Amino acid sequence: MSNRSASHDSEFASSFTRRGFAAMIAAGLTEAAFAQRAAVPGEAPPDTVWLNGNEFPEGPPKASIEAMARCMAEANRYHYQEFPAFYSTLAASEGLKAEQILVGAGSSEILHAAVDAFTSPAIPFITPWPTYEAAPELAAFAGHRVIKTPLSSAHGFDVHRLAVEAAAAGGGLIYLCNPNNPTSTVTTQDEMAWLVANLPRNTYLLVDEAYLHYATAPEVASAMPYVREGRNVIVSRTFSKIYAMAGLRAGYAAAKPELIARMAPYRNNVISYISARAVLAALDLGPKLIEERRAKIGRTRSEVCSWLDSQGIVYIPPQANFVMIETGQEAAEVQAKMLAKGVAIGRPFPALRTMIRVSIGTDAEMMKFRRVLSEVRTA
Ligand SMILES: Cc1ncc(COP(=O)(O)O)c(C=O)c1O
Repeated sequence: MSNRSASHDSEFASSFTRRGFAAMIAAGLTEAAFAQRAAVPGEAPPDTVWLNGNEFPEGPPKASIEAMARCMAEANRYHYQEFPAFYSTLAASEGLKAEQILVGAGSSEILHAAVDAFTSPAIPFITPWPTYEAAPELAAFAGHRVIKTPLSSAHGFDVHRLAVEAAAAGGGLIYLCNPNNPTSTVTTQDEMAWLVANLPRNTYLLVDEAYLHYATAPEVASAMPYVREGRNVIVSRTFSKIYAMAGLRAGYAAAKPELIARMAPYRNNVISYISARAVLAALDLGPKLIEERRAKIGRTRSEVCSWLDSQGIVYIPPQANFVMIETGQEAAEVQAKMLAKGVAIGRPFPALRTMIRVSIGTDAEMMKFRRVLSEVRTA
């Protein structure tokens, strides 16, 4: 067993003592919370198209599938010894060192670790609202303070307000999902730069870049350079979205080593080596994979938007692989009606009561979406 695997084991054991009872219960309950977020209201007809989970509509890269197939028969072994090289390769893909990343079962585990490490009943989790609920829900469940700030009139984030709240609280963890789920809006490079430069004392910025690869607006950029500069910034990334590996559960945090060390005790174990092999094979394909997939989803997204325009349907201009559409009806009702007609769309977001979140699927899936939305609107 390598040093790395030994330290993983001891981290794992000590996480049970350090984690605290409430957080452990929260970790168990979150499986139910995930299922609830993915749930659809009723029986899905057999030919349902799934536009509810912001997944990539096609499978993982062929090279990843082949890599997994090649190593399945070795699953009798732990494979801990592979993880140092896995960390190094993954970190190098972003110009980082192994000690600047932390791998988790999807970025969900990373968000949990950040909540556990950087918030408490006294130290708040600060987030614009609405956003991806997992981390704020976990913080609230664990009895940690949660501060929610409203969106701007264009459904964007007010970074100044986030800094004001953090300063008033004497520090905290600011969560910034970029592009944001569910609004599909972005925080610009300038806004991010301002926030990083003006982070109050004892404040950490967690930038969730689950959908960053889909953004095409020139004013958007990754927050990864701030990690390389050693700022108080944590970037979370996932292989669940553009890499099409949601079922493989692989994600990671990037941050300076001292922040990674604070989060590490709250992470559970290594991910499956099969997932790790799939990730390595995908990384080996280089940026072309991302560029092609971004272009493909971007084309379909533009076509959907043109169609919405042609129908006079209002929507928030999207930068991720989903679009928030105004329906004038209760989102929950629209969701149920569309499901009955074989189109599963995203869960309702109560803060945007009459808007529906629709993931971008294949062209054929989006044709069905158009037909069914038209039927539901005119019914
Ligand atoms: C913004 C955002 N962050 C994180 C996640 C968690 O995804 P995963 O755990 O599969 O990486 C999701 C899932 O939909 C998401 O929308």
